[in-house]
Amino acid sequence: MNVRALAAKALYAVLEQGISLSVALPEQQKKLSNGKDKGLLAELCYGVLRVLPQLDKRVSDCLSKPFKNKQRVLHQLLLVGCYQLYFTRIPEHAAISETAEACRQLRFEGLVKVINGVLRNIQRNQTELSADNPVLEFNTPNWLIKHLQAAYPDAWKSIIEQSHQRPPMWLRNNQQAQSREQYLSQLSEAGIEATAGKSKDAILLEQATDVMQLPNFAQGAVSVQDAAAQWAAWLLEPKDNELILDACAAPGGKTCHILEQAPNAQVIAVDFDEKRLARVNENLERLNVSAQTIHGDAANIDSWWQGDKFDRILLDAPCSATGVIRRHPDIKWLRQSKDIEELAKLQSQILDHCWQWLKPGGTLLYATCSILPEENAEQIKAFLARQSDAKLEGFAEQNSQDSIGWQITPGESNMDGFYYARLKKQ
Ligand SMILES: C[S@@+](CC[C@H](N)C(=O)[O-])C[C@H]1O[C@@H](n2cnc3c(N)ncnc32)[C@H](O)[C@@H]1O
Repeated sequence: MNVRALAAKALYAVLEQGISLSVALPEQQKKLSNGKDKGLLAELCYGVLRVLPQLDKRVSDCLSKPFKNKQRVLHQLLLVGCYQLYFTRIPEHAAISETAEACRQLRFEGLVKVINGVLRNIQRNQTELSADNPVLEFNTPNWLIKHLQAAYPDAWKSIIEQSHQRPPMWLRNNQQAQSREQYLSQLSEAGIEATAGKSKDAILLEQATDVMQLPNFAQGAVSVQDAAAQWAAWLLEPKDNELILDACAAPGGKTCHILEQAPNAQVIAVDFDEKRLARVNENLERLNVSAQTIHGDAANIDSWWQGDKFDRILLDAPCSATGVIRRHPDIKWLRQSKDIEELAKLQSQILDHCWQWLKPGGTLLYATCSILPEENAEQIKAFLARQSDAKLEGFAEQNSQDSIGWQITPGESNMDGFYYARLKKQ
């Protein structure tokens, strides 16, 4: 299969059908056998989504009338073509001929000449891409720019810039398998350059590497997890023999880290999404740790749990994921302003409900991979106002001791954007 045709199909699924790239991309990648081709396909999809408004404008300006309905996939194909001409080192003649060939493979033989013509036109007039309005200048939707400006009057531009960088690859050392120093030596022996991160298990790879090249990956020596997400288990401070609820657990990165730290804790890992819950089981198995996985609603614990209240609860809440746009650029185009209010409502429902299931003296760690205050500091401020038995505990790591919780912004110490607040029940 032609890689450009597959890229156009994946982008069609995201932009026309609202499917997330983490679902749409593997769907097309499985049609390729060569690893290099799979990499190129990912690069084309991620690249287009990062700079979508600018490419969209350039392509639309070259078309006398827009493609409609099923032909929309040709618009996405032109975005792929335009991206190659502006942002890659692929020789221009190869970019154009391969993209035109993709049009044939997509079964629009009669339009090959149009695709070819538009791309040649773009090649001939490689004018600077337009930055005439904020959406074009920052390749970000207006509503998100406004939210970020309000929340970060000084830093919003650098946050947007960081959200467009290629993210690094972080590993989490499995402290039950070896020490971080030992694993760093193993990496060095394998010729893989890496350094230690701030939290105790974090390892930053100099370059992204296929996991199967990592020493003992299949045996559970390490996991791939951003350093920001690795703070969850450290801040939760799980202990052996405690009863711990991971309320929104899938795919289980944090569940496994909790068990690596406290292998004899009784961990209940719950998720609403049955398919994603299956991935928790796969991760538990690879790391050789065990938890009870339950398909259930964190806002209705009574329906699936008749046991004791919990010593600790991790609530890694469903959120806008605005902190991880550098890893998931499709979020910019799939999320809408109205989602934020709805998400904040859902988060507060789950938070209030989980609180009832926490023992007196217990700890609840609230986490999101969002950078919007509505889902984070404002959410916790409102919670503290309605729950008189809740006390917020600060973290040594947080930037200001006065702030409500710890807001990590994208790129800070090379991490994803994340938020943590630790609440103690009086
Ligand atoms: C941010 S992700 C969790 C990531 C996970 N903690 C990890 O570290 O791998 C949020 C999860 O919440 C789940 N979810 C959403 N609403 C839920 C609900 N009402 N009850 C339980 N899980 C829910 C989603 O299916 C999703 O898997």
